[in-house]
Amino acid sequence: MPKRAGRDIAPPTGKLGVMLVGLGAVSTTFIAGVENVRRGGGLPIGSLTQMGTIRLGKRTDRRSPKIKDFLPLAGLADLVFAAWDPIPDDAYTAARKAGVLEPHHLEPIADFLKGIKPLPAAFDQNYVKRLHGTNVKPGKTKRELAEQLRADIRQFKQTSGVDRVVMIWAASTEVFLTPGPAHQSVAALEQAMERNDPAIAPSMLYAYAALMENVPFANGAPNLTVDIPALERLAEQRKLPIGGKDFKTGQTMMKTVLAPAFKARMLGLAGWYSTNILGNRDGEVLDDPESFKTKEESKLGVLEYILQPDQYPELYGNVFHKVRINYYPPRGDNKEGWDNIDIFGWLGYPMQIKVDFLCRDSILAAPIVLDLALFFDLAQRARLSGIQEWLSFYFKSPQTAPGLYPEHDLFIQQTKLKNTLRWLMGEEQITHLGIEYYEKA
Ligand SMILES: NC(=O)c1ccc[n+]([C@@H]2O[C@H](COP(=O)([O-])OP(=O)(O)OC[C@H]3O[C@@H](n4cnc5c(N)ncnc54)[C@H](O)[C@@H]3O)[C@@H](O)[C@H]2O)c1
Repeated sequence: MPKRAGRDIAPPTGKLGVMLVGLGAVSTTFIAGVENVRRGGGLPIGSLTQMGTIRLGKRTDRRSPKIKDFLPLAGLADLVFAAWDPIPDDAYTAARKAGVLEPHHLEPIADFLKGIKPLPAAFDQNYVKRLHGTNVKPGKTKRELAEQLRADIRQFKQTSGVDRVVMIWAASTEVFLTPGPAHQSVAALEQAMERNDPAIAPSMLYAYAALMENVPFANGAPNLTVDIPALERLAEQRKLPIGGKDFKTGQTMMKTVLAPAFKARMLGLAGWYSTNILGNRDGEVLDDPESFKTKEESKLGVLEYILQPDQYPELYGNVFHKVRINYYPPRGDNKEGWDNIDIFGWLGYPMQIKVDFLCRDSILAAPIVLDLALFFDLAQRARLSGIQEWLSFYFKSPQTAPGLYPEHDLFIQQTKLKNTLRWLMGEEQITHLGIEYYEKA
C-alpha cells in the first residue's frame, strides 16, 4: 500500500533547552536521571519515548520500531537544562534535600548538578502559602515580572546556544482559581497583569512569557495556568503547542486503569475512598487547604468522566468518591496511596478491592517530564498548535477544546497518542478491527 504523506516536521537540529519552573523533587530527579542515562548509569524506565515501540501496519508485517527511531525526536545528548525557583539551592543541593535519588546517582554527577542554579522566580506567597522564597524577582507589576521571565528565556537561548526551548511547570501547586473575566482574551490578561489583578497567578506569567518567546508550555501541576481562553488563543495565534494539567503518576494512573475495567464489564461502583500519605515539600504545600483544593478537583474529576453516570445510572448513579492527602514527613517522597473500592456485581452483590501503592512520586514523574519535553518539541516542529489533547496520556486533568469532555481512560489515551504519531509520519491508523486476518479476499 502506498505510504500516505505525513506531516512536515522540521528536523531536530542543534540543542533543545528544557526550562523548568521549579527545581524541586520532580525537576531534580528528571535532570539527574537524564544525566545518569547519558553517562550509562541507568535506564530511562517509565519513558515511552525512550523505551516504547510502536506497531506499524498489519500484525503479520512485524514492524515495531522504537518510538525514538520512528520519529525525529531530540536525543538525550542534546538536552540542556535551566530552572527557576524561589529557593536558591542549586540542583545538587535541591536533589539532596528532596532525598529521592541515592548518593550513587548524585555524587558522580555532582559538578554537573551544581552548575544548574535556579534563576530568581516570579513568586508570590499568596498563591503558595506554605513556601517562603528568597530567590525572587522584584517587580512593581505582574507585567514587569512577565517581561523579566521573557528576558530570562532570551538570555538562556543566547548563553547556552540552544536552538529551541520548551517550558514545563514542575513547581508547587498554587491555590485554587476559577476562570474569570481577566482570563478571557489576551488583551484582558495583559491589562490584568498591569493592574496586579489577583486573578493572575505566577504560573500564568511563565506561560505567557513562554508563548511570547515562541516556547511551548506544558503544565505538570493542577493550577489553572495555561487552561484559560486568553493563553489558548495566544498559543493558536503564535502556532505553539500547550498542554496540561497535572502529571498522571501514581494513584490517579491506577484509577484510570481500574475504572475503565469495571465499566467495560458493566460492574457497578458504590464508593471509592483514596487516601495518601506523603512527606515531601509537595505534601507540605498540599497540606494548605487552598492548594489541596486545586489538587482535589484534579483527582476527583476522572471517575465522573470515565463512568458516565448519566448513561449508567444503575451502576454509577450514586458513587461516593473521596480523596485525601495527608502530610506525613517520615515518608519523604515515598508516598503511600491506599484505595478502598466498593464494587457490585450480578444482582447487586457487593465486593471490595484494596490497592496499596507504595510508590515513589518523583520516580514516576521524571519520565513524564522527559516525554513531555520531547513530544512538545516535536509538536512545535510539526506546527501543531494550541491544546495537544493527544498528550492527555500524561495528565490527570487533560485540557481539551471547549465543549469536549476529556478522555481519562489510560488505554484510550495511549491509542490516541500512538495513532497521532502514526498520522504525523504518514502511517495507517490502527483500528484493531482485524477482520482481514480471517476473511481473506
Ligand atoms: N511527583 C508526582 O508524582 C507529581 C504528580 C503530579 C503533579 N505533581 C506536581 O508537580 C509539582 C512539583 O512536585 P515536586 O514534588 O517536585 O514538588 P517540590 O515542592 O519538591 O518542588 C516544587 C518547587 O517549585 C518551587 N516553586 C514554587 N512556586 C514557584 C514559582 N512561582 N516559580 C518557580 N518555582 C516555584 C518550590 O520552591 C519548589 O522548589 C507539584 O505541583 C506537584 O503537585 C507531582
